[in-house]
Amino acid sequence: MEDTVTLIDNRTGKQYTLPVTHETIRAMDLRQIKEAPDDFGLMTYDPAFTNTASCKSQITFIDGDKGILRYRGYDIADLAEHCTFPQVAYLVIHGELPTPEQEKTWRADLRIHMGIFENIKKFMEGFRYDAHPMGMLVSTLAALSTFYPDSKNVRNRETQMHCILRIIGKIPIIAAYGYRHSKGLDYVAPQPKLGYAGNFMHMLWERSPLEHLQDPVLARALDVLFILHIDHEQNCSTNAMRAVGSSEADPFLSIAAAAAALAGPLHGGANEEVLKMLDEIGSIENIPAFIQGVKEGHHKLMGFGHRVYKNYDPRARLIKRTAEEVFEVTGRNKKIDLAMELESIALADDYFVSRKLYPNVDFYSGIIYEAMGLEPKMFTVLFAIPRAVGWLAQWQELINDPEQKIARPRQIYTGHERRDLPDSYTVGASPQEVPLSR
Ligand code: CMC
Repeated sequence: MEDTVTLIDNRTGKQYTLPVTHETIRAMDLRQIKEAPDDFGLMTYDPAFTNTASCKSQITFIDGDKGILRYRGYDIADLAEHCTFPQVAYLVIHGELPTPEQEKTWRADLRIHMGIFENIKKFMEGFRYDAHPMGMLVSTLAALSTFYPDSKNVRNRETQMHCILRIIGKIPIIAAYGYRHSKGLDYVAPQPKLGYAGNFMHMLWERSPLEHLQDPVLARALDVLFILHIDHEQNCSTNAMRAVGSSEADPFLSIAAAAAALAGPLHGGANEEVLKMLDEIGSIENIPAFIQGVKEGHHKLMGFGHRVYKNYDPRARLIKRTAEEVFEVTGRNKKIDLAMELESIALADDYFVSRKLYPNVDFYSGIIYEAMGLEPKMFTVLFAIPRAVGWLAQWQELINDPEQKIARPRQIYTGHERRDLPDSYTVGASPQEVPLSR
């Protein structure tokens, strides 16, 4: 059987045969379908890209119906159980797991970039004490662009890797300093030998009331959470990274845009919203009324639903398991019982079942972070640190893909036809602004 589809244009009676590859037709193949020779040709309309592949990618595979997530072909559960975050970061960036020698070099290279200029610290000190940590992160990532003008040379492979190392090395420092800034604490210098997650905890909690939380079990739990968040193919923030990167803006500016997209409550900001929601629900007996409110459209069940997963998000399953390990050290966060009851009530309700709404990665992660002493406004920052690896791998793939160009969608114009300016604008004096009374 041929891998083609045949379309008949009922306006003209003409028939077109289009090739199908990867179960996809090329949108540009539709352009030949015209009513009259000087027509523009057919386009597709796909607000929110619900059925449009914007790239070919070799990084992450998701089967949303079966609940499968793989990085570079490896199952997420295997990676979470047997690997460390730097190993998986290497895999996602380079395509293969590192040999011991490659891992040594990778960690040493990252260590070189684990530091930030004093000016960046001063820049961060300019934020108000109650600045949202995501706002601080986004702005500081963008500010880094001004320190590394060589990063504009985006087509140079060496520059690409240099920038990747710089960002993976620096993002936990910026995140930790944002946290300490909001607590009025002094900044703690990184100690890369503590490991990626261990060093982050050190920078967060050293010389603070939560100093005792620098525990190897918690560091490993954070390492696993970081692995689970590394990449998720063409989600909203990755799409932002690719869209901005496609203009050849430098990777610091592109990643600031990606982090900004992540901050929204429908995306990475959902983990913060889940905790607010659990606080609002308060106790198990209030769940039915809350669920009723969801079904009546008054609010969403945050941490539920996904554009791609129509089955249990495999990350949520692994996070639930990690939560129990964390509670062994921190004591049980009672909100987990509330969340589990909420999940079981929702998953038995036809509203959620018929729409295939399951817990996503954000449903349980915040409960762990809270048990670790972090407040909800830090949660999305904890998502952004590992996701930086995915953003950078996707950016690198984009920049080196000869099929890619500047991202520039089309539109269907539904506004006015051409019209004349009103007389009040065309008759009399030259254009001037209306004077203000004060
Ligand atoms: N609570 C209640 N109803 C929901 C929810 C929810 N969390 N999610 C989807 N629905 C309903 C939605 O109202 C719609 O119903 P109907 O068909 O009657 O209009 C149906 O399910 C399909 O939803 P959709 O809005 O068309 O789905 P989408 O693919 O556009 O949105 C989503 C995906 C993740 C934005 C959405 O499920 C949502 O808002 N969830 C809550 C926020 C959240 O947890 N976000 C984190 C996503 S996972 C991690 C990440 O991306 O960062």
